[in-house]
Amino acid sequence: MVGTASSILQFKLDLRDLIIRRCRFEDIGGVIYVNRKTLPENYNEYLFLSMYRIFGDIFYVAIDRNTGRVIGYCMNKMEENTKSFFSRGVVTKGHVFSLGVLKEYRRRGIATALLALSMDKMYRKGCSEIFLEVRVSNKPAQKLYYKFNYRVVARVPRYYADGEDAYIMATLREDSEDIVKHVIEKISEMGVVVD
Ligand code: ACO
Ligand code: ZN
Repeated sequence: MVGTASSILQFKLDLRDLIIRRCRFEDIGGVIYVNRKTLPENYNEYLFLSMYRIFGDIFYVAIDRNTGRVIGYCMNKMEENTKSFFSRGVVTKGHVFSLGVLKEYRRRGIATALLALSMDKMYRKGCSEIFLEVRVSNKPAQKLYYKFNYRVVARVPRYYADGEDAYIMATLREDSEDIVKHVIEKISEMGVVVD
């Protein structure tokens, strides 16, 4: 089933008191903090810094205006000349590498906003599909991805360090672009995005 722009209206977007923008150098410490709080996949500082250096234009953060602290992030990369999940060809893929929102800020649409901005930028930079890995047990995250029309394209046994399997979920530009645009419109109406 392919979602439509109207199905996205089910997304909550309560982005009051937030700044959502591209990651800056001085945000990296905050991103690392959120990563450690939200996910068992904790990369070293060097990984975050190199992602920032190489893919800083597709790296987004959410900041609480009241405290100035990073409370969510979506870190992404682009992979050129790689095998398509949907056709025989070779394509440029966007890769949602790591996404997290602090517990006390969840269910307000922050991940929705971070993901939409990331996907929009990756499509504008030439990606024809976007993919990610997610724990098979992580139903909340999978639900978010389904809303953007991602589907499970593979299961990778023992992908994670603790032995859990991963689903690879992917979406084609033509299947998710309208939804992404719709969310971006809503976000800009709220006046929160500073790119
Ligand atoms: N239970 C059920 N559905 C959920 C849940 C949940 N706990 N959380 C999100 N969803 C679904 C819902 O459909 C939700 O819409 P609704 O609130 O209108 O019902 C929709 O996703 C959008 O939710 P958002 O509010 O945009 O998401 P949030 O800002 O709460 O962040 C996230 C979601 C990132 C998964 C957060 O729960 C988190 O940080 N979890 C721990 C880290 C994690 O799992 N990250 C993703 C790993 S995969 C990867 O990084 C590529
Ligand atoms: Zn990945």
